[in-house]
Amino acid sequence: MSEISGKAAVVTGGGSGIGMGLAKELARQGATVAVADIILGNAQKVADQINASNGRAVAIQCDVCERDSIAEMKARANEALGPVGLVFANAGATSFDPLMEMSDDDVDWILNVNLHGVINTARAFLPEMMANGGGHICATASMAGLMPGWIPVHVPYSAAKMGIIGFMMNLALEMKQHNIYTTSYCPGGVATGMKANNASYRPAKFGGPGEGEVHVPAASFDAKPLTFFTPDAIAPMVLNAVSNNRAFVFDHPEQREDFRRTYSSIVEACYDDADAWEKAHGTPEANPDGAKLVSAG
Ligand SMILES: NC(=O)c1ccc[n+]([C@@H]2O[C@H](COP(=O)([O-])OP(=O)(O)OC[C@H]3O[C@@H](n4cnc5c(N)ncnc54)[C@H](O)[C@@H]3O)[C@@H](O)[C@H]2O)c1
Repeated sequence: MSEISGKAAVVTGGGSGIGMGLAKELARQGATVAVADIILGNAQKVADQINASNGRAVAIQCDVCERDSIAEMKARANEALGPVGLVFANAGATSFDPLMEMSDDDVDWILNVNLHGVINTARAFLPEMMANGGGHICATASMAGLMPGWIPVHVPYSAAKMGIIGFMMNLALEMKQHNIYTTSYCPGGVATGMKANNASYRPAKFGGPGEGEVHVPAASFDAKPLTFFTPDAIAPMVLNAVSNNRAFVFDHPEQREDFRRTYSSIVEACYDDADAWEKAHGTPEANPDGAKLVSAG
């Protein structure tokens, strides 16, 4: 069990949407919270609400694309709340532009904030958790990371979110000896500010804040309209998974079936392809012109 009550927690992207829901629920369950966000004013509003409801929170400005900014945020969180035992690497941004219509800056931004942001955040807090004998990292991935062919016109985002899953699953193996657990949260539709405010989150080094709503093409969702939960509704579910050291948490049970079917069909397609090739050419070991198997070491 990863206890929530009495722990100090950090939530990146805590100024809005899912992060705001997590920060408030953490406080309700007795954690102290550092609400970290690239937009300080939003983080401050969330921290003020928590403090006004007898919780304890501090707002800290932080850009998860910058390691120095995260190091500074960690120092301020430690100063205000002590050692941090729970980290929610949740900050992210989206894109529904066709890949070849995206600028290089936008491709870099989406990969950086969604994937490197999680890695940067985890690496900043892991040494303290290792020294203190345990902790928990929860990253907000996406169903688009588990099923990268699920939502069309979502290329760098799907790549980044799938990267989070690989990072978290492998990190879990490395950190088990330190009593540090990981949870990948895979939202499948939560009503948040992302569509309206996404452009305002772009850091200066990727072109700076922009304006306007995210345009979601019909191809992306028309075939599978989503239902949306509120951040308040999903937060207890995520914290329950964290406190039980569960590796994954989904918020839309019906999407688990899509996930199962997607992977069955990927595995079948790979095997069908391998079977057809080997039928025509023989196995790699038997084919004198093909690859030779070598043993490691
Ligand atoms: N809403 C959904 O249906 C959904 C689905 C799948 C995944 N997600 C993921 O959930 C996470 C939270 O998104 P949300 O839906 O709550 O959106 P949101 O727009 O309401 O919240 C995102 C927050 O991240 C902050 N942020 C953005 N870039 C940052 C940076 N560089 N450094 C620090 N903070 C930064 C924003 O200021 C904002 O407060 C994201 O990682 C998103 O990809 C959301």
